[in-house]
Amino acid sequence: MCGIVGYIGKEEASEVLLDGLRRLEYRGYDSAGMVVLNGNTLEIRRSVGKLANLEAHLKKHPLTGHAGVGHTRWATHGRPSEENAHPHRDATGRVVVVHNGIIENYMALKAGLQARGVKFESQTDTEVVAHLVGEAIARRRQAPVPLSPPLFVEAVREALSEIKGTYALGIVSADCPEVVIGARRECPLLVGVGENEFFLASDAPAILSRTRNAIFLQDGDLAVLSREKVLLFSIETGQPIERKTTYLPWDALQAEKAGYRHFMLKEIFEQPRSLEDTLRGRLDINELKVHLDTLKLSEEQIKKFRKMTIVACGTSYHAGLMARYLFESWVQAPCDVEIASEFRYRNPLIGPEDLLVAISQSGETADTIAAVRHAKGKGATTLAICNSVGSTLYRECHGKILTHCGPEIGVASTKAFTAQLAVLYVLALYGALLRGTLPRPDVENIMRNLLHLSRWVGEALKTDAGVAALAKKYFHSRNFLFLGRNLNYPIALEGALKLKEISYIHAEGYPSGELKHGPIALIDEDMPVIAIATQGRVYDKVMTNLEEVSARGGRVIALATVGDTRITALTSGHRLDAGHPRIHGPRGQCGAAPTVGLPHRRPPRL
Ligand code: M6R
Repeated sequence: MCGIVGYIGKEEASEVLLDGLRRLEYRGYDSAGMVVLNGNTLEIRRSVGKLANLEAHLKKHPLTGHAGVGHTRWATHGRPSEENAHPHRDATGRVVVVHNGIIENYMALKAGLQARGVKFESQTDTEVVAHLVGEAIARRRQAPVPLSPPLFVEAVREALSEIKGTYALGIVSADCPEVVIGARRECPLLVGVGENEFFLASDAPAILSRTRNAIFLQDGDLAVLSREKVLLFSIETGQPIERKTTYLPWDALQAEKAGYRHFMLKEIFEQPRSLEDTLRGRLDINELKVHLDTLKLSEEQIKKFRKMTIVACGTSYHAGLMARYLFESWVQAPCDVEIASEFRYRNPLIGPEDLLVAISQSGETADTIAAVRHAKGKGATTLAICNSVGSTLYRECHGKILTHCGPEIGVASTKAFTAQLAVLYVLALYGALLRGTLPRPDVENIMRNLLHLSRWVGEALKTDAGVAALAKKYFHSRNFLFLGRNLNYPIALEGALKLKEISYIHAEGYPSGELKHGPIALIDEDMPVIAIATQGRVYDKVMTNLEEVSARGGRVIALATVGDTRITALTSGHRLDAGHPRIHGPRGQCGAAPTVGLPHRRPPRL
């Protein structure tokens, strides 16, 4: 969750860095800091808490200079405090480092440094990097010779060769003020390319207001930014490398809150547009064709795959779980769905006959990337479904399909999830058409429904006032159960994840058929049950499960299809929000527009 911004150019670095850090605030942090170089001196400012504290500190003690690096920290090693806030410096105080990631062997490295007399100022893992670079410089430099950029680069490479773990680093030295160094291993880092100015950033929104041209660093890359140019080297070999500059299709405005109270709310309301953008040009209902130009897998390849394995984490994993129902049912193809962090540490049976699909909003999730590399190593074909052009997954997978959400700034995924589902529906249709496994009227029906989807989601969003009323009524509950069946089971899991992540309320997602196998023991009026009970093949089964809940005195909040009177009758039937026609029901039953997952007129063959 930490953020890095670096700058070298003609502007006052402290202003550029503060502005960039502000644009990364959404990622969460508990302290912030920056270092600015001014000739052969450097100065550091750090503060605990909000960026406003750092800003106030900078007002009292301004920094002058045209190069530097800044950081927002989310504590991992050592409590949130000024001494643990980044940047960190070496024993001379002339080498300064900011870092995202985790140095896995820092305890051993720290012990070695302490044995050599180094005193530590913080409890962080990052500080070892500053000391190691400082020591490597001292070994290479015959004082009082100035430190040349090549010597600085060599010292950084030597230090990094000792480190095990993950990092995105920004490094400066007061003895080599003409450069800012960035290095990447399994943590995102990009270089923003301006005119006679360059930027480092852990995430694109930090630089979007200044440049739309970026070089995405890859694992093992080291970047040397000066006012005139950026040079890239391999950390391992020191050889120069070339990376192409990518034009970022997002503008700074898309990364702003646009009048919403917070990014998550804005992104929830962006779903109709994001679905429209994601589906645009991909469905041809007249010809009954699906266009997936960036798939880069031939029809023959697709027809021949023995099995498909989906890997992802968190919300993206839930999208994958939902897709399994589609692939098995429509494409009639075997489909496994795996949590990426488990997949990479098993010995999964995957080979050249298989397709691995990696789903990720960011395209930078380390476990998902590792799973892709593992599968590629075994000869499998890989396909990325992601939201980030130029990200690691986008670059490394054989085929790719983009979700066109624009930047998802809110850490809790919302519009990316529904756009992933839309892409997975399209992909399943594509497979079904190639294999001839769905009758044409079904294909037409599904396409028509997908083309209505954006409008329906817009309709569903009109329930917001009623949903807010429900939240007000129930927010004191400490536990929630989310139930769903079939396609709606992954949705229940996702609902529970969102509630946990955003409200810090404990929630579990369950397939409703499992209720009687244990969890029903927990049902009472203190455990609200959120049921996703839209009409479809398993509707009657879900109703039976909800009757079980009701019989135990449980309070049901149901997300149901508009016009469903049976579900309203399940309990006493008073309206929760008289002001809104779609929110109704006793003890919190909520009818919504047809859900994303279900074609409107004819249920899919699931
Ligand atoms: O960028 P990714 O989709 O690979 O991220 C994976 C998860 O970390 C992510 O989906 C996470 O679970 C959500 N942000 C939670 O809302």
